[in-house]
Amino acid sequence: MSFEPRFSLAARRLEDTGPDLWQVHMQAMQRLADGEDIIMMSVGDPDLATIERIIEHAVTSLYRGRTHYSPGMGELDLRQTIADIETQASGKLTTPEEVIIFPGATNAVYSVLCCLLDADDELIVAEPTYIGYQGIFQAIGAQIIKVPCKAEAGFALDSSAIERAVTGKTKALLLNTPGNPAGNMIPGDQLRYLANFCLENNIWLICDEVYSMITFERKHISARTAATSLENVIVIDGLSKSHAMTGWRLGWTVAPVSVVEKLLNFTSATIFGCSQFIQDAAAFAMQNDGEYIQSITGEYKTRRDYACERIEKIEGLQCQKPEAGMFLMVNVSEVAEDGLKFAQGLLAEEGISVLPGEGFGAITKNYVRISLNHPVEELEKAFDRIEKFVS
Ligand SMILES: Cc1ncc(COP(=O)(O)O)c(C=O)c1O
Repeated sequence: MSFEPRFSLAARRLEDTGPDLWQVHMQAMQRLADGEDIIMMSVGDPDLATIERIIEHAVTSLYRGRTHYSPGMGELDLRQTIADIETQASGKLTTPEEVIIFPGATNAVYSVLCCLLDADDELIVAEPTYIGYQGIFQAIGAQIIKVPCKAEAGFALDSSAIERAVTGKTKALLLNTPGNPAGNMIPGDQLRYLANFCLENNIWLICDEVYSMITFERKHISARTAATSLENVIVIDGLSKSHAMTGWRLGWTVAPVSVVEKLLNFTSATIFGCSQFIQDAAAFAMQNDGEYIQSITGEYKTRRDYACERIEKIEGLQCQKPEAGMFLMVNVSEVAEDGLKFAQGLLAEEGISVLPGEGFGAITKNYVRISLNHPVEELEKAFDRIEKFVS
């Protein structure tokens, strides 16, 4: 008898990738590897290098022998640093017992959802939805209820639509502010309202805030800062974007102790602790990043302003100025059948890779997402080509 490979439902769900929205990106990567002049604007990986002092700290830590297992919750120094920052930002005393470290925000979201949801439970998410959640949703298998944002209002979150989406099976609401892809920020009073609404309806509020440190005109307001009561509030953040540390894999969750206890059981079973030297470097980064964060947000703001100015001058393209993050959502409905066709054409004719908006939901089918992961000189070249393509 021959062996017949049989796989779990989760593994099979993960095979269903839907429309191939990474196809343009993959083709672009191949052409880049073949030596072609391709400009990659399809991913959210900062072009900036992690600053040297952080790297030096990690190396010193490695030489100090910080190469062993770490506590499941994470290193106390890092958790205390995060708790102190949280206390200062929210005005609510936060202790290290409310902080748990993960190898990246993606893993934090996955772990949180695994600890909260069963297959029958409903999770409400706003659309456009960060494309990276898709695989997590498929892995956990819960029911995902998508609530469209108001596209005409800069993809503002529609609280009443969220309230209408709640059923007896709703267990959690997952928000993302500042948002990927649209760079929209949920106002504090709306967050407070939703946190209270969720509390009254016995629903968890999970808030992914990985762009919290890259904001332009006004400061980020965390769900923990906004909420009146923290009983049902779980916040996720990380260093990938703010500190250009995507490859270091460092994220965290701040949540009520009862949630952290469940997360510790989960992560002890699945991760068994994050790297010591990376946590040392992360703590150092967060303790010494004041000027750095200022300079990085200044850089992204310059890029955003330049890119928006260029788009404004290209007839047929529209873009609302993002308030935060490192992306632009560009409406291409006047010049292409949809975002996918636009992205395919732009790569084929001008060698530029952007992400079709459909990856974030049906609401952004006629959009493409452009990453601002290039300095202005490179953006100039990219927008010259985009202008040529559109005209
Ligand atoms: C909203 C959002 N959450 C999470 C992540 C992933 O973060 P990490 O690198 O910490 O896993 C991203 C990356 O693009 C993101 O945009």
